[in-house]
Amino acid sequence: MAEQNKLEKIVGLAKRRGFVFPGSEIYGGLSGFYDFGPLGVEMKNNLKTLWWKWMTKDHEDVVGIDGAIITSPKVWEASGHIKSFVDPLVECKKCHHRFRADDIEGDKCPDCGGPLTEPKMFNILVPTKLGVIEDEKTDAYLRGEACQTIYLNYKNVLDSTRVKIPFGIVQIGKAFRNEVTPGNFLFRQREFEQWDLQWFCHPSEMEKWFEYWKEERMNWYKSIFTNPDNLGFYKHEKLAHYAKNAFDIEYTASPISGGKEMEGIHWRGDYDLSRHAEYSGQDLHYIDPETNEKFIPNIVETSGGVDRAFMFLLVDAYSEEDDRVVLKLNPKIAPYKVGVFPLLKNKPELVEKARSVYNELKKHFNVIWDDRGNIGKRYFAQDEIGTPYCVTIDFDTIEKEGDTVTIRERDSMKQERIAISELRAYIQKSLD
Ligand code: GAP
Repeated sequence: MAEQNKLEKIVGLAKRRGFVFPGSEIYGGLSGFYDFGPLGVEMKNNLKTLWWKWMTKDHEDVVGIDGAIITSPKVWEASGHIKSFVDPLVECKKCHHRFRADDIEGDKCPDCGGPLTEPKMFNILVPTKLGVIEDEKTDAYLRGEACQTIYLNYKNVLDSTRVKIPFGIVQIGKAFRNEVTPGNFLFRQREFEQWDLQWFCHPSEMEKWFEYWKEERMNWYKSIFTNPDNLGFYKHEKLAHYAKNAFDIEYTASPISGGKEMEGIHWRGDYDLSRHAEYSGQDLHYIDPETNEKFIPNIVETSGGVDRAFMFLLVDAYSEEDDRVVLKLNPKIAPYKVGVFPLLKNKPELVEKARSVYNELKKHFNVIWDDRGNIGKRYFAQDEIGTPYCVTIDFDTIEKEGDTVTIRERDSMKQERIAISELRAYIQKSLD
């Protein structure tokens, strides 16, 4: 399958089956914005819940926050975004298409071969206005990266909880960037979600924690991808002035040329807290309760794109086998865990029994009901949205002893007959 073709198929499937819809579509669309549909929101919530639980429950010293999207505009001066959150923009003098200068090779327009303008720096923060009276409105920005609200609340978290250095603060939240060239489905959007950890530690322990979180994050991604071998590290050669190291976690089988980055592991040192201390005039030092040592904590950041992970998980799970399309999603993130079908919809005794199985399973899992068409088509419809199991209630269920049903597994297509009383444990096994 050609890679671009694969991405087109996934974009088509995502819309057709209710994972992701183009933003503002009935008005002709709005470049760089997408809406998640009924299945997409289930899958995205599963993904975020997994991440949150892994970060905060499986790591002892990590707590969460949910910060505001709009902050004091001074935040973006302190962070350096107003001065340097810029993309180099070039325009074709012939067709007037615009590109990020660092996305194109050579000095000709990739669309028509026309000559290009000199690169102009373009700030990608998204401005907004606050206030009621036109002349008195103040300028503000939608946050360009979610992590800034963590730095703003570092002291509040220290003062209000029992955490001590080293500890982490996590957040899942929206970020906004006026990208010059949004595109490639969810890869480069203007509104997207990030999942961030900021790990605060003693400067002498940066090396150790950087390595720790780099490995931890890779192992987490490996635990949810269908083909973990498709993940790799990319080591940055060009580093920010305060950084001693930086890696990306990449989806190496990406269908997008030059578009593999899923998460950054960043060595931020004391840059962020020092800058906010300077611009706010607040003392952001930490005093070690045991040694009384006073220092600005250093930070290891893991900052990933939820939407990019979502897209790469779809790409990784997508498979065409003979006459079926199957999303081999990890059952933990699949929108539905099980489909329940009566063999025939015009046999009330089958429908009634199937309804009782459906109602029971619904107490524990996200379950989908389907009674349309033949069973084969129903199985294939569930394969295409990644449902790991399908349960069919047939005449043997109601006529033979044992109260048994057929359960069919998505990837192997194997069918087994098991007792209804065993269904819950059977499905649960794949989610533990
Ligand atoms: N706080 C650090 C930070 O924001 P970044 O590398 O600019 O670092 C982190 O962004 C992650 O956010 C990226 O690895 C990517 O997954 C995601 N991301 C960045 N820009 C994006 C965009 N325009 N659309 C979708 N995801 C994006």
